[in-house]
Amino acid sequence: MTHNTARPNRLWTTIAVYCVPIILWAGLVLWSYVWNLNGLKANSHNLALEKGRMVFSVIEATRMWNASHGGLYAPTSDMSPSNPYLIAKEKDIVSPSGQPLTLINPAYMTRQLAAIMSLGDINIHLTSLKPINPNNMPTDWERNSLMSFENGVKENLDILPSGKEQIYAYMAPLSVKEPCMKCHAVQGYKVGDVRGGIRVSFPVTALSLAEENAVKKLKNVHLIVFVLITILSSSAIAWARYLIANLRRERNSRDDVIAERTQALQYEVGVKNRLFSIISHDLKSPFNSLLGMTHMMSNMGDQLNKKKMAEYAKDIHETGEHIFELVQNLLEWARLQMDGATIVPEKVALNNVLQNSVDVLLPLAKDKNIQIKNQTCNCQVTVDKEMIMAVVRNILANAIKFTPSGGKITLHAQSLEGDATAQITIEDTGVGIPQHIIDNIFSIDQKTTTLGTDGEAGTGLGLPLCRDMLDRNGGKIWVESAVGFGSKFHFTLPLADKPTCNTGNEI
Ligand code: HEC
Repeated sequence: MTHNTARPNRLWTTIAVYCVPIILWAGLVLWSYVWNLNGLKANSHNLALEKGRMVFSVIEATRMWNASHGGLYAPTSDMSPSNPYLIAKEKDIVSPSGQPLTLINPAYMTRQLAAIMSLGDINIHLTSLKPINPNNMPTDWERNSLMSFENGVKENLDILPSGKEQIYAYMAPLSVKEPCMKCHAVQGYKVGDVRGGIRVSFPVTALSLAEENAVKKLKNVHLIVFVLITILSSSAIAWARYLIANLRRERNSRDDVIAERTQALQYEVGVKNRLFSIISHDLKSPFNSLLGMTHMMSNMGDQLNKKKMAEYAKDIHETGEHIFELVQNLLEWARLQMDGATIVPEKVALNNVLQNSVDVLLPLAKDKNIQIKNQTCNCQVTVDKEMIMAVVRNILANAIKFTPSGGKITLHAQSLEGDATAQITIEDTGVGIPQHIIDNIFSIDQKTTTLGTDGEAGTGLGLPLCRDMLDRNGGKIWVESAVGFGSKFHFTLPLADKPTCNTGNEI
C-alpha cells in the first residue's frame, strides 16, 4: 500500500521543489518591475511638471513686465484691434507720424502669445472665476483648480483626455501684485488675492515615447533576469537533488550489503546447526544399531541359525547403505560448501546424464516393484555432469522411497524460454507431500525428513543439496505435490544449442 501512495507524493514533491522557487522568483521580479515602472511614471510626471512650470513662469514674467508699464502700445491692426474690455485714459492714440496705436494690457498680450504658441504643441489659457472677458470662462477642470488655489493649493497637474489623445494639463494661480491694481482695483481686488490662473497644456505622447522605450527596456531586463534566475536555481536544485539521491543510493546499497551478509550469516549458522544435528543424531543412531547388531552376532554367533543370520545380515546391510548414503551426501555437501569448489561445465546429452542416474537406482526400484520411465529428450545441456547426476539420484531415490510398491516414476523434459533452458520433470505416483513440508523442503536449516513407505529413513540433506547444486549450474528447482496425488519435481538446466527436444528412449 505504502508503495502505491508514495509515487504520486514523490511526483508532487518534485513539482513543488521546482515550482515554489520559480513562483518566488516570479513574484520578486514582478515586484521589482512594478516598482521600477512606478519610478518611471513618477519621472514622467516630474518632467511634465517641470515643463508646465517653465512655460508658466515665462508667461508670468512677460505679463509682469507688461503690467509694470501699465500696459504697452502696439500699432492698431486687424491682428491687434483696440481691446473693448479695457477701460483706460489713453487707450487709443496716434503717433506723431499719424500711426494709430492701442494699449495692450497683460491679458490681451497673453492671448496673442497663446495664438503664436498654439502653432507648436503648447496650449495656454488665461482664466478666472470672475472673468471680465467671457472668453476667459474656465472649463470644469480649470474651475476646480482655481477653487483649490483659493484654498492655498500652489499648482495642479493632471492627465486629461483631449480628442483621441491625452494631454498633460498644468495650472498655477496668478495673484494680484501692485502693478495689477491700476486696472483691477476697481473690481475690489487687493494685493495677494488670486485673480485667476493660466493653464499650460501639451500632449502626453512626446514624453511617453521616451517612457515607452524605458518601459520596454525594463520589461526585457526583468524577463532576462527572471529566465536566468529560473535556469540557475533550477539547475542548482537539480544538482542538489542528484547529490542527495546519490547519497541515499549509497546508503541503501550499504544497507543491502549488510542485509545480504546478515542473511548469509544466518544461513551459515543454520547449516552448522543442521550439521551438528546430523552428526550427533542421524549418524550416531544407525552406527549404534550397527554396533548393537554386530556385537550380538559376535557374542551369540553359534546359537543363531542360518535364517536368523541372513535376517541380521540384511538389517546390517540396510543400515550400512543408509550410513553410506548419508556420508555421500555429507561429503558432496561439504565439497559444495568449500570456497574453492568450482563446477566443471561441459556439453553433455541430457538423456545420458538422466539414464546414468536411473541405472544406478533401477535395482532399488525393482526391489519395490516400481517402474521407471525415462521420456526425456536428446538435447544437449551445459552442466557439471557429476553434480546433475547427484541431483537426479537424490530426486529419484526420494521418489522410490515415497512410492508404494507397484507405482510408477516418469521423467519428462521440455524446452523453455525461447529454447534457452530445458525443464526436467520427475513425476511419481507416491504418497505426496503435505504443504508445511513443501514450504521448507529445500532449506538446509530446517529439518524436514519423513520415513518412506517401507520405513526408509531420510537424511534431510538431499533436497537442499540439489538446490545448491542446481544453483551453481544456473538452474532452479521446485515441487508440485498434494497428499495422496503423487509429486512432481521440476528443475531447469541451461541448453547448449538450439535443441530438438523430442521424446527419447524408454525403459
Ligand atoms: C492695463 C490694465 C491692466 C493691468 C495693468 C492688468 N490687467 Fe488684468 N485685465 C485687464 C483687462 C481689461 C482684462 C479683461 C479683458 C481682457 O481679457 O483683456 C483683464 C483680464 C485679466 C484676467 C483674465 C480674467 C478676466 O477677468 O477676463 C486676469 C487673470 C488678469 N487680468 C490678471 C491680471 C494680473 C494678475 C495683473 C497684474 C500682473 C493684471 N491683470 C494687470 C486689464 C489689466
